Amino acid sequence: MQKDLLFVTTTVDIPVTGYSFEVKGRKIALYVLKDKVYALEDRCTHMRIQMTKGFRNGDVIGCPVHGALFDIITGKVLQPPACRDLPTFEVVVKNGDVYFDTDQIPDPPEMQF
Ligand code: FES
Repeated sequence: MQKDLLFVTTTVDIPVTGYSFEVKGRKIALYVLKDKVYALEDRCTHMRIQMTKGFRNGDVIGCPVHGALFDIITGKVLQPPACRDLPTFEVVVKNGDVYFDTDQIPDPPEMQF
């Protein structure tokens, strides 16, 4: 089955503190680490603050509000107050272009009137 790949950006345009984009109402962050691109939810699991507005030290990103730390590769929480891991996603990189399979994000529920 053909994946529904969305072109997002190029690897050279991903800042150290992450590149944020939105798919189906969810914010996703891209990070480059050792020439590989990683995608994680761009919302802290503590109080939903945008992680790309935070800080980074190597393979660790920090929430700008209360300082929870997460592993870029696995999304694992390394320091509270967050207690749930950041969801991670797959990306496809071709010739420096970064694509995201939008099927990884469930469609938002239909509005009921
Ligand atoms: S909102 Fe991120 S640690 Fe509180």
